[in-house]
Amino acid sequence: MIILSVKTCSGLDDLNLLSSVCCYWSARVFIATMPGLLLGDVFPNFEAETTNGKIKFHDFLGDSWGILFSHPCDYTPVCTTELGRAAKLSDEFSRRNVKMIALSIDSLEDHRGWTKDILAYNNEESGCAFPFPIIADHQRELAVALGMLDPDEKDKDGMPLTARCVFVIGQDKKLKLSLLYPATTGRNFDEILRVVDSLQLTAKNRVATPADWQPGERVMVPPNIPEEEAAAMFPAGVYTKELPSERKYLRYTPQP
Ligand code: BEZ
Repeated sequence: MIILSVKTCSGLDDLNLLSSVCCYWSARVFIATMPGLLLGDVFPNFEAETTNGKIKFHDFLGDSWGILFSHPCDYTPVCTTELGRAAKLSDEFSRRNVKMIALSIDSLEDHRGWTKDILAYNNEESGCAFPFPIIADHQRELAVALGMLDPDEKDKDGMPLTARCVFVIGQDKKLKLSLLYPATTGRNFDEILRVVDSLQLTAKNRVATPADWQPGERVMVPPNIPEEEAAAMFPAGVYTKELPSERKYLRYTPQP
């Protein structure tokens, strides 16, 4: 049983979701009535069973950033490559003070067996510890509450599978980013690391990162900073690109 404690953005009281939501149609009704999680909302402080024991999400995060990512099903090919890649990058996430946690709608027993396959896919010993926990959401309660189900992908019993969802949560427990991929498209975990670098940089500095930015490259001065203020704010210099419109909005500065 997963217990959700949700603080909605409209400030309503905590909502305890204690019911078992295990059939497709009740899942669909629930998705339709559950308010969507918006950027800036406090992430639900759910309780769940994981491969590392029972957790309460905010306690699990502690003072760290968090990444929660779902995948459709254990013992499937794309998911195996994704969790393998995520495991290989786990030191990089730790270096950025980001705690990782995966979710799928299978049992703990399945997760434990499957992690051995993932380690073998990575050419690692099957006795090695898996670097992050996997939530066992076999009744789909969390998947439903967080809007992770993909109605177009179904298991052999016709039940919807989880999509490939990514949530990045900040140290303030608020949602900083969400991504939703269909089951048939595996994610790029190097891109997710790059996004974390941008989120952490822009949380500390009033800058924005351009398309395809990589750490160390120049960044952009946001449009809501007036010209005089920008000069004082970025002593390393502000370069403004000349444009046909003569509007001075394309402003770069070295990464702070
Ligand atoms: C996979 O992980 O390979 C997968 C899972 C569900 C649908 C399609 C692919």
